[in-house]
Amino acid sequence: FKGMIIKNMSFKVGQTLTIVGVPKSEATNFAVNIGPDEQEIAIHINPRFNAHGDENAVVCNSYQGGNWCEEHREGGFPFHQGEEFKIVIEFTPTEFQVNLSDGSIIHFPNRMGAEKYSFISFDGEVRITSFDIN
Ligand code: GAL
Repeated sequence: FKGMIIKNMSFKVGQTLTIVGVPKSEATNFAVNIGPDEQEIAIHINPRFNAHGDENAVVCNSYQGGNWCEEHREGGFPFHQGEEFKIVIEFTPTEFQVNLSDGSIIHFPNRMGAEKYSFISFDGEVRITSFDIN
């Protein structure tokens, strides 16, 4: 793992997390991970330009008990290498609502069921320029 990790933060039900960043100019994919600790991921948001057999798709999943769970593909693909993007994640009582800049929304269930997650990590070929919880 080579990305940036934010520990001891708290992202709670009712809050909104806004992430702004720029994928590297030759990025194949990058990911935003939110979870309870370093071992588990409640939501992995993985925009893939060209990676793992996908072209221009956002793949979401959770990582529980040492395994990737069921993949979830939804929403558009408003990402361009070298261009700024914004992802707005609303944490509702039942799911993560991931709002993309083309107006599309990914509805990903809160499979782990916690009301608060304390770890966020950014992985892959991306530079995060701003990060805000409200
Ligand atoms: C795998 C990939 C992981 C993660 C996972 C999501 O193929 O290696 O990094 O994106 O898919 O299901």
